[in-house]
Amino acid sequence: MTNVTNERLKVKLKNLEFKNPLIAASGTVGYGEEYEEFFKLSSLGGISVKGTTKEKRQGNKTPRIAETPCGILNSVGLENPGIDCFIEKILPNLLTKNTIVIANIAGSSFYEYEYLAEKLNSTNVHAIELNISCPNVKQGGASFGSNIKDVEKVVSMVRKKTDKFLIVKLSPNVTSIAEIAKAAELKGADALCLINTLVGMKINIKTKRPILKNNTGGLSGPCLLPVAVRMVWETKKAVSIPIVGCGGISSFEDALEIIMAGASLFQIGTVLFKNPLAPIKILNDLNNWLKNNNIKNISQLTGSVLEW
Ligand SMILES: Cc1cc2nc3c(=O)[nH]c(=O)nc-3n(C[C@H](O)[C@H](O)[C@H](O)COP(=O)(O)O)c2cc1C
Repeated sequence: MTNVTNERLKVKLKNLEFKNPLIAASGTVGYGEEYEEFFKLSSLGGISVKGTTKEKRQGNKTPRIAETPCGILNSVGLENPGIDCFIEKILPNLLTKNTIVIANIAGSSFYEYEYLAEKLNSTNVHAIELNISCPNVKQGGASFGSNIKDVEKVVSMVRKKTDKFLIVKLSPNVTSIAEIAKAAELKGADALCLINTLVGMKINIKTKRPILKNNTGGLSGPCLLPVAVRMVWETKKAVSIPIVGCGGISSFEDALEIIMAGASLFQIGTVLFKNPLAPIKILNDLNNWLKNNNIKNISQLTGSVLEW
């Protein structure tokens, strides 16, 4: 098994030292407890917890998962126990697990994001991940992450309330990811995570009904990888803050692709549903590849793609 604390895999971003570049993606690991029968959470570079909101949420009506070729659609709808329960009952235990704990937050108004960031600032959580793919309820339901003005506003409001390491998680459902990324950097993001899910839809042709009760959902899994790699590559050229790559990563080769495109760290999500041991396999394979290729530290590969 990989020695997860070895020098080859370590990544330091500002004040945070990740023992390896693999982070479990928000919404796909809960708070890690169900995976502890497969691996120690301390094997992970970090864990990004389920999207947390101001109040407790039941999530959307079922069915809220649909299988697609090479991926899944989900419309879970941010089911979570709310920020107070997270801070009081869940976070203290997670912080004993010897891994970087990232609180993923979601709001339906600018005020909610600000509120969540302020609450988390007085905890010992290591980092905050701002999920800006959520709909802005007061402004017709378009996502905060879909226009530059809203991105600037939400990031600067949150930045003023916290000095935690701030990761802004971008939505791929935009025209220019680089412009959105630059806006987040300008307003104080310490890092960017990309990408969240792509909006999709699946229809049962017998009933003519969408499979998901919510009609549409977020597409994740292997089908997302080329989109994620392209968006990380475009973003890397536009910003100087570190990027956390995410979207369809299922193997060490996929992880290397996204790192070569420009990512410093990477997240894995949907692959965990198929193989809960995937993090361990990916880390072992990555470590062996680095060793065989005589690479002293994984960061040397960030953005190393040789463009035509
Ligand atoms: C069931 C499910 C729930 C998710 N919930 C969240 C969430 O609460 N917050 C968030 O930022 N991303 C959420 N995501 C998106 C993932 O964190 C990730 O960005 C996306 O699935 C792409 O990575 P993957 O292809 O490796 O799964 C969710 C994804 C899935 C599949």
